[in-house]
Amino acid sequence: MNWNELQTPCYIIHKKELDAGIALLQAALEENWNHYTAGYSFKTNALPWALLQMKEAGLCAEVVSEDEYDLAVYLGFSKIIYNGPVKGKRTFLHALRSGAIVNLDAGRELDWLEESGLRDVTVGLRVNFDLEAECPGETSSGRDGGRFGFSYETGGLRDAMERLDKMGVKLSGLHLHASSKTRSVNIYRALARKAVQISREYRLSLSYVDIGGGYFGGMDNKPKFPDYMRAIREELLAGFTPAQTMLIVEPGTSLITPPVEYVSTVVDCKDTHAGRFVVTDGSRSDIDPLHGKRSYFHKIRYGGTPGWAAGDGDDICPPERTPMEKQVICGFTCMENDRLFVMENKAQLRPGDRIVYQKVGGYTMCLTPLFIRYFPAVYAEENGAYTCVREHWGPEEYVAKSLPGNI
Ligand SMILES: Cc1ncc(COP(=O)(O)O)c(C=O)c1O
Repeated sequence: MNWNELQTPCYIIHKKELDAGIALLQAALEENWNHYTAGYSFKTNALPWALLQMKEAGLCAEVVSEDEYDLAVYLGFSKIIYNGPVKGKRTFLHALRSGAIVNLDAGRELDWLEESGLRDVTVGLRVNFDLEAECPGETSSGRDGGRFGFSYETGGLRDAMERLDKMGVKLSGLHLHASSKTRSVNIYRALARKAVQISREYRLSLSYVDIGGGYFGGMDNKPKFPDYMRAIREELLAGFTPAQTMLIVEPGTSLITPPVEYVSTVVDCKDTHAGRFVVTDGSRSDIDPLHGKRSYFHKIRYGGTPGWAAGDGDDICPPERTPMEKQVICGFTCMENDRLFVMENKAQLRPGDRIVYQKVGGYTMCLTPLFIRYFPAVYAEENGAYTCVREHWGPEEYVAKSLPGNI
């Protein structure tokens, strides 16, 4: 199948770019902290094909729910990191018994552990601390504070350590994932420094420090894996050595956002008193399900231009098409706000032209609603050849899991 034959709307995952991101991460870890584990954050995009690529590349699974845990087992991940506040008890105990890395998030997990009588296991504790105080204006929750983990400031973390101690369960690691607005290197310095501080204060002997995810990836003028890992190394060396303590990272968006594109086709154009509306078969719901972005990386493929059939060329405007002052690019849903961007003084779009949105792999497919159209197809591209790795959902797929056997 070639680009021209793709059924739109659809996502494309470029395999070479995906592999390059993973290789860059692994090289940065190797160079800076050669005792490491990299877990791919399932929540970011759990397309089975993508998960299997991660597994093949040697990444383990980072999961935060019973469904994700079961999926990791189902797909044959041999190493799992189990995080988050909504673990299920069944999978929590299974994870502990099978040697997964389990980072406790709150008191009920300590209760489960106590009741289970399991003692020959190790666990990590997720640390909640005032990161905003150290990186003003940078954290996602700002002065409202993060809600995950055991609080360092209130003594909740210390109490959790004492409970583990009483139970006779070894504390093997600290988990410090934090979501930030800036994804700055500064954030990771602060996280690593906090790990050193806590380890010193409580005289811990840790097998791992899990610094979490939240990095930029594949973006010009933004930090890259080597920048983050160098900074983490510099801070961690104040309290740890690679020989004794493993560094865990849990990237999601930095790996899966850059290699994914979303292709839509112009289906109609109409003029109203307000101007030209260009209707496409793609939607904002597919590339920005939370409707939080202000702009989208995109390129235009005018039909009939050189390279069009292969998806090559960059916004080549055919000379015969007159420029238009304003064209509003809209999606297929019947929501008025399903408007993607405005094109100004560009050649007129026509049905059959394509608009390709770039860097859309993270927090898109996993949040796509079943709204008006069902899930779009996903293709993997390698050396110019396209393979369907998820079929477009039609009525059959939609009904199959709702009314099994009843039709
Ligand atoms: C515990 C944990 N680890 C890793 C990640 C991945 O973050 P990102 O996709 O920004 O890399 C998240 C995302 O929220 C998370 O909650």
